[in-house]
Amino acid sequence: MKAVIIYETLTGTTQYVAEAMQTQLKELGHEVDLHSLRYQGNQPDLSQYELVLFGAPTYEDGKLEQAMRVFIARCKEDLSKYKVAVFGLGNSSYPQFCTSAKILEEWVVKQNGKPLVPVLRIDGFPDDMSPIEEWIASVHQAL
Ligand SMILES: Cc1cc2nc3c(=O)[nH]c(=O)nc-3n(C[C@H](O)[C@H](O)[C@H](O)COP(=O)(O)O)c2cc1C
Repeated sequence: MKAVIIYETLTGTTQYVAEAMQTQLKELGHEVDLHSLRYQGNQPDLSQYELVLFGAPTYEDGKLEQAMRVFIARCKEDLSKYKVAVFGLGNSSYPQFCTSAKILEEWVVKQNGKPLVPVLRIDGFPDDMSPIEEWIASVHQAL
């Protein structure tokens, strides 16, 4: 299945996670592009994909990372056409832990999308990749 991971990062962790997800999805037989909103443009063409993953970190007391915030404010895509999954990054030392995942999920639902699996929340730098691998396996199974 043709897939894209739409993400943004400030300090690289989300990109690291997105690359690991891309590798695993490819191993599972999918064709997977990565799309950084900052570097590859804020208007990705979703129409060529069947599976779309959205991922971003939390900053500024529970806000979605800025480029992703701008993207969801502008994007009026009907997400019912796609298979969708959402992941968010944060750090549980902050009171508003990982609200990026919740904000992204609420936006997906508002755009008529139905996440294939529960959102994935990643706490800090993922030294242990197994929760991410399990989540990608569950996305693959849900297709
Ligand atoms: C200034 C600053 C503010 C942050 N605010 C939050 C926050 O409100 N909630 C949260 O869960 N994580 C917060 N974080 C943690 C980041 O979301 C986390 O480190 C994430 O992995 C960074 O992803 P990135 O490397 O892709 O930018 C903050 C980090 C920094 C440096």
